[in-house]
Amino acid sequence: MIQAAVLGYGTVGSGVVEVLHKNREIIAKRVGEEIEVKYILDLRDFPGDPFEDKVVHDINLILDDPDISVVCETMGGTKPAYQFTKDALLKGKSVCTSNKELVASYGPELLQMAAENNCSYLFEASVGGGIPIIRPMNTSLAPENIVKIKGILNGTTNYILTKMAKEGASFDTVLKEAQEKGYAERNPEADVEGYDACRKIAILSSLMTGKNVDFSKIYTEGITKITARDFEYAKAVNKSIKLLAVSERTDDGVSILVAPFMLGAEHPLCGVNDVFNAVYVTGNMVGDLMFYGHGAGKLATASAVVSDVMECAGNIGKNIPVLWESDNLPLLDMKECTRKFFVRVAMKDRGAVLNSFGKIKEIDITDDEFGFITDSMTEKEFDTRMKGLREVLSVIRVENEE
Ligand code: HSE
Repeated sequence: MIQAAVLGYGTVGSGVVEVLHKNREIIAKRVGEEIEVKYILDLRDFPGDPFEDKVVHDINLILDDPDISVVCETMGGTKPAYQFTKDALLKGKSVCTSNKELVASYGPELLQMAAENNCSYLFEASVGGGIPIIRPMNTSLAPENIVKIKGILNGTTNYILTKMAKEGASFDTVLKEAQEKGYAERNPEADVEGYDACRKIAILSSLMTGKNVDFSKIYTEGITKITARDFEYAKAVNKSIKLLAVSERTDDGVSILVAPFMLGAEHPLCGVNDVFNAVYVTGNMVGDLMFYGHGAGKLATASAVVSDVMECAGNIGKNIPVLWESDNLPLLDMKECTRKFFVRVAMKDRGAVLNSFGKIKEIDITDDEFGFITDSMTEKEFDTRMKGLREVLSVIRVENEE
């Protein structure tokens, strides 16, 4: 029997215990032996919970127990998760985590520590919740030179943007409603400002390149400035607006950004709605692939953690290698990247726009302002051309048609 411990009995941690319990027979068949949760570490007690007898408050009970070979870190944040993870790995216990913040901040160090201690550090649940994406990137796509990853990696913002698109409601109204329904956090900053998606694309880009992508270097823009009027324009040209995390490899290097994009209705990511996430991956041999599913939620995320636990259970005493070196990958300057832009300006700026931009695609939906899509140009050139305008109402990048 394989014995495991769960650190943090919140939404994901309790889901892990539930998945391991409910699917114990199928899991045992596939692993070749049973997996049992021996300890659940949490600051709280859980009277009446079916697993209350497993709850402990001292991490050392877990670290000092030689029977524990796999630890699920579902605490979130870096303190104390970072220290607990290092301590477990140093004792040769594999760690499976859903903690994107920790993985994005300390991935290479923790992977190296796992390799040195003949155990593993796996993080399938850290990106895209229940969507299998980390393991496919490390195994099925191993022969590929992955040239592009484009993801809808945050369920909260996708839910908000979907509602805005469908109902013509404002960002503030939809956010409030999402908070009331429990779909958005009381403090929604990490989601709506794009920070959560930024960490996730940093992890995917590190796996894509094998080098460390420092998430603090990724240009990140959230969705707080998107308005109902922007969606009217998008609809008029058969597009929608999605928060995309994009990582692209060219001959010059790798560019990464997180920002709202206008996306054509024909693009597969445009049909990804509500809380769903999707990752669109382009390999140089396999072509385009799309991974789609629940990017958050108790059982979906827990299922991904348990898939890692099962892989560790089949590799006790061995390291499952993950190529993610510690040298930082230099990123291309975003200002040199080329794309089209959607812009709304006050009507008084129409003449200046026509002078400055030359060829544009006008979108005519109202008399009180002027909306258009530019030709392709670098971000730097776009900034220069925008300089003379007096009242800019909105700027949204436009995703290139595939
Ligand atoms: N807050 C995240 C989201 C949860 O909305 O997608 C999963 O990381």
